[in-house]
Amino acid sequence: MEFRTLVVGDIVAKAGRQALAGGLPVLLKAHAIDVVIANGENAAGGSGITPSLFDELRALGVDCVTLGDHVYRKKEVVPLLAASDRILRPANLPDEAVGRGWTVLESQSGFPFAVISLLGRTFMKPAACPFHAVDRILAEIGDRAKLVFVDFHAEATSDKIAMGWHLDGRVTALCGTHTHVQTADERVLPKGTAYITDLGMTGPHEGVLGRKKEKVLSALITGMPTYFDVATGDLRLQGALVTADTQTGLAAAIGRVSVPVAPPPPPPPKKEAAPAPGSSGAPEEPEVADGLDAP
Ligand SMILES: [Fe+2]
Ligand SMILES: [Fe+2]
Repeated sequence: MEFRTLVVGDIVAKAGRQALAGGLPVLLKAHAIDVVIANGENAAGGSGITPSLFDELRALGVDCVTLGDHVYRKKEVVPLLAASDRILRPANLPDEAVGRGWTVLESQSGFPFAVISLLGRTFMKPAACPFHAVDRILAEIGDRAKLVFVDFHAEATSDKIAMGWHLDGRVTALCGTHTHVQTADERVLPKGTAYITDLGMTGPHEGVLGRKKEKVLSALITGMPTYFDVATGDLRLQGALVTADTQTGLAAAIGRVSVPVAPPPPPPPKKEAAPAPGSSGAPEEPEVADGLDAP
């Protein structure tokens, strides 16, 4: 049977969640998608994820959330990482790092599928070898799932291409994340693994990797540090659609997805009154981040 998986690139802040909310229902309906896997490492204000935002992604139709170098940026996520088998930290972190690096789940259509999260090492913080890590994990998965999807969260295109060849014929799809720039090199490798170097960014494209362009330009031109507020304009849902065979677990096709999404209308102006019952009256979490170097 044909099995269709939508793999979604880094969801960045509120704008990214809005892009997912606007674009995902259309894609789910148009393509009879079995499973949605999304990288959520930037879901909270552009860096990290919280349990409530994980719930928000799940409610929108995401079956499994992968993370990356920002995995622990919001400390509230730690108990969730310990408890849930639907959110993954990179597998090649130390054994003591809270969470799991891979999981086997079942689609609503009744097929087991595995998801693995890996971190690159070039131009990134230290991590164990992702090649040895994925070899160990595939041996552990064994016959539990024919369909296997790998998120390789890495900076260097060469690392990701090399991993594609390492896994060709051994997994359903290897999709890169982290750079926030979608690459045009999607293909099914000779032994049947769907490959793309980077899925791109689900978020605001009127900026620099999801941050406001004015702030980034100012920092680059003046050399003075500043907060990099999250951008808001030109929302797009980006990722790839992988079609695979449930018997072999190999891919038949991979197609890039880049869907422009109109921003939701602004909320009506608030009346100046006492906070509603149950509301703290506190302002929303500021959409800021402290750096651009590691998206
Ligand atoms: Fe990242
Ligand atoms: Fe990211």
